[in-house]
Amino acid sequence: MDFKDIVKSRRAIRQYEAKAVPEETIRELLEITSYAVSAINLQPWKIKVVSDQETKDKLFPATFGQNQVKTCSHLFVFCADTDYAGIINTTNRVMQAGGVPDPQREAMMGLAANVADGMPPEARLAWSKEQVYIALGNCLNGAYSLGLGACPMTAFQPPAFAEILGLPENLVPTVMVSIGYAAEAGGPKVRRSVDDILV
Ligand SMILES: Cc1cc2nc3c(=O)[nH]c(=O)nc-3n(C[C@H](O)[C@H](O)[C@H](O)COP(=O)(O)O)c2cc1C
Repeated sequence: MDFKDIVKSRRAIRQYEAKAVPEETIRELLEITSYAVSAINLQPWKIKVVSDQETKDKLFPATFGQNQVKTCSHLFVFCADTDYAGIINTTNRVMQAGGVPDPQREAMMGLAANVADGMPPEARLAWSKEQVYIALGNCLNGAYSLGLGACPMTAFQPPAFAEILGLPENLVPTVMVSIGYAAEAGGPKVRRSVDDILV
């Protein structure tokens, strides 16, 4: 399937077969997700993957009755990361390992430090959340490309998720995605026309 067909056919899937997605496929989906673009290539987010039923059941009461949280094979909880010292450190290491020339790497890391230093904590969180949503797009289209159904969800209680999942303070649950083998076709694909998205 080419990219155009993927984006035009993918739908939010909320009913799943009672069949676990193999861990290799989940790993592949995580890799596709990890290729998302981000500002200054900082990738300021982490994903908590939940596959055990007990944890899914514990999270359910904090999701406004979204059954797909309980019935999916895997739940990805995308968290915005606000620890910019750690993020810059990791990016620096990854760039070094990836063979990015030193002057280019140092310039990018200098820029990243300036941007992070210039933002109050709320702005850092907002900035990280913006990058989360780019990764979300990769994840949704990636899931479909791998033959999986997925549903993005923001209707949940982030503080309860953070507590149940034992997340450190710097990781803020932002959006979750239920993943599994589709047991429904999904709703009709309705979008604004190209003319309607132009101003
Ligand atoms: C950021 C975001 C949050 C969403 N939150 C929910 C949600 O909490 N529950 C849900 O059932 N669907 C949720 N959706 C799914 C949308 O309703 C769905 O993607 C949209 O109606 C378009 O349908 P399609 O994905 O089938 O093309 C969310 C989608 C996005 C992008």
